[in-house]
Amino acid sequence: MSLPNLQIACDHSDLASALKDIKNVGDVVDIIEAGTILILQGGQEVIKCFRALYPDKRIIADTKCADAGSTVAKNCADAGADWMTCICCATIPTMKAANREIDEVQVELYGDWTYEQAQQWLDAGISQVIYHQSRDALLAGETWGEKDLNKVRKLVDMGFRVSVTGGLNVDTLKLFKGVNVYTFIAGRGITQAENPRQAAIDFKEEIKRIWG
Ligand code: 5RP
Ligand code: MG
Repeated sequence: MSLPNLQIACDHSDLASALKDIKNVGDVVDIIEAGTILILQGGQEVIKCFRALYPDKRIIADTKCADAGSTVAKNCADAGADWMTCICCATIPTMKAANREIDEVQVELYGDWTYEQAQQWLDAGISQVIYHQSRDALLAGETWGEKDLNKVRKLVDMGFRVSVTGGLNVDTLKLFKGVNVYTFIAGRGITQAENPRQAAIDFKEEIKRIWG
């Protein structure tokens, strides 16, 4: 079982405050995400700034793309993103079109999806999914539990690299002990911490403690 990556999700509402956090934690995390909220606010400029700051880091555009896969992917790739996300209800042609224009597409699992669809994503050449607890579900009282672990395990067994996200903090990680998670994605658990750099270091240390 390999060491899971740590990805920071920058879901800031403005580019300036995202850059401030990135400057503090960019060298600690493995992957930098231009979050959906931030991309909606700042567009391609966000990805360009992240790439200019970190020429050698993996950068992900969390576009949650539902249509026009080719154009959205080309715009993200031209700006410097390595990977981008498509929402799970996008059609296979949208995902395939996106996948042709950028290094990799990740499928964001929200709401209703099936393992039959998941097999179709694999057949279409897409081998990454993001298992998500939505902000709004968590706010409504949903918590991480065995039902989530079972789905993550099943997706791993199918052959996916599975990222996990949604309200994660350092204490949540131990729940996934023994599960071959590819990447933990943390937004507010880092960006809203009193000391974001220390929070990122704490995430990394906990990952090493559990999976190292
Ligand atoms: C929401 C997202 C977020 O980037 C992801 O959930 C991480 O944020 P947080 O840790 O703050 O929940 O894609 O749709
Ligand atoms: Mg995100």
